[in-house]
Amino acid sequence: MVDMDKLVALCTNRGFIYPSSEIYGGINGFWDYGPLGVELRNNVKAAWWQSMVRERSDIVGLDSSIIANPETWVASGHVANFHDPMVDCRVCKKRFRADQVEADDKCAEAEDGRHDLTEPRQFNLMLKTHIGATEDSSSLAYLRAETCQSIFLDFRRVMQSARQRPPFGIAQIGKAFRNEINPRNFIFRSREFEQMELEFFAEPSTAMEWFEHFREFRWSWHLSLGIPEEKLRWHEHGQDERAHYAQAAYDIEFEFPFGWSEFEGIHHRGDYDLRAHTEHSGKDMAYTNPDTKERYTPYVIETSIGVDRCMLVLLSSAYTVDEVGGESRTLMRFHPRIAPNKAAVLPLSKKLAEPAERLIADLRKRFAVDWDASGSIGRRYRRQDEIGTPYCVTYDFDSEQDHQVTVRDRDTTEQERVAIERVPELLTERVLGY
Ligand code: GAP
Repeated sequence: MVDMDKLVALCTNRGFIYPSSEIYGGINGFWDYGPLGVELRNNVKAAWWQSMVRERSDIVGLDSSIIANPETWVASGHVANFHDPMVDCRVCKKRFRADQVEADDKCAEAEDGRHDLTEPRQFNLMLKTHIGATEDSSSLAYLRAETCQSIFLDFRRVMQSARQRPPFGIAQIGKAFRNEINPRNFIFRSREFEQMELEFFAEPSTAMEWFEHFREFRWSWHLSLGIPEEKLRWHEHGQDERAHYAQAAYDIEFEFPFGWSEFEGIHHRGDYDLRAHTEHSGKDMAYTNPDTKERYTPYVIETSIGVDRCMLVLLSSAYTVDEVGGESRTLMRFHPRIAPNKAAVLPLSKKLAEPAERLIADLRKRFAVDWDASGSIGRRYRRQDEIGTPYCVTYDFDSEQDHQVTVRDRDTTEQERVAIERVPELLTERVLGY
């Protein structure tokens, strides 16, 4: 099992993830993504978009505003029901989510170490703001708690403008905000995070088939990113766990360093959302099939995954300690498609910088490539292993004569001589698979 403290230290020291506003003591539940973190993040989002939108003709994209008309959140039920039970310790004044007070969580102030907890109170998780010059109830607005609501609001617009009709889906990637009582486990539960959501609209009698289709489709996406299958499992929501509108719901869980937890939800939402917005806005969201004249409110199949949680899955899956030449090394075994840098170019000596720069300029037109010209070659390999770079390309003195470079594989550490003009194509084939 991966040691969470070591993973967090690597992420901070190597430039994946830092606490937000650290010089002021940070702010709980908010994170910054450093140079490697932002590359990894962009690669995850690009892989999702590629699979969900670009490679399908029945799903189109959307990028809606973070703040919508507040009536949206009344209709969706968030204003009335998006609550978590909260308790306070009367002794140490700490605040907890009532269902997450751990048995081993000791009170620092009480002599016997036991918290003296208040009765649970309902706490609404919507983050609020005010729009315009006045700060009263008329200017109240919410930062969206999930990206999907705007998909429902724009359903008719998208269907008409994109010349789609059910069955079709709308996909969106964007920020969401929740005033979590206890943000925890690094980036697993934050107050600002990003979601990748698909809402797929289908004729009601076909909805269950689409539900099964997307369960399979999403599972295979995770495997395509190199997540080990034995670290994944399905969790079917029981009747008592399911949202009242959900007809069926499964989570994909991952074995995180702190245990099994959800990182994607696949839910059959029935016609709950479109009906709620129809009733609340007075705008009919039903659809008439032009061929059969049948009129119905489409059923919705949703797949919803957090970018940050997905990153934690990929970081935990990639973290490996092995031995090379009798020495321990730490490496991040990212799948090449999502690795922050696809390659690093290492000129063996400063005198070789100029021709090596020509090679890196060529490679950088295709993907992110690192440049590392300092330290022994062994140290440079270790540095690249630790940030998950799949290939190191070393330009040495022989390269001047034989016009070849050494390409080293991160996982096997095997090295091969490759003609310089072949390198861009070879790496593209290995990294991107085409
Ligand atoms: N539209 C459905 C929806 O939002 P959810 O189960 O509340 O459902 C979906 O959230 C996904 O969003 C989760 O599986 C998780 O990956 C991510 N997520 C939810 N809350 C989060 C938080 N506080 N921090 C990070 N990711 C979160």
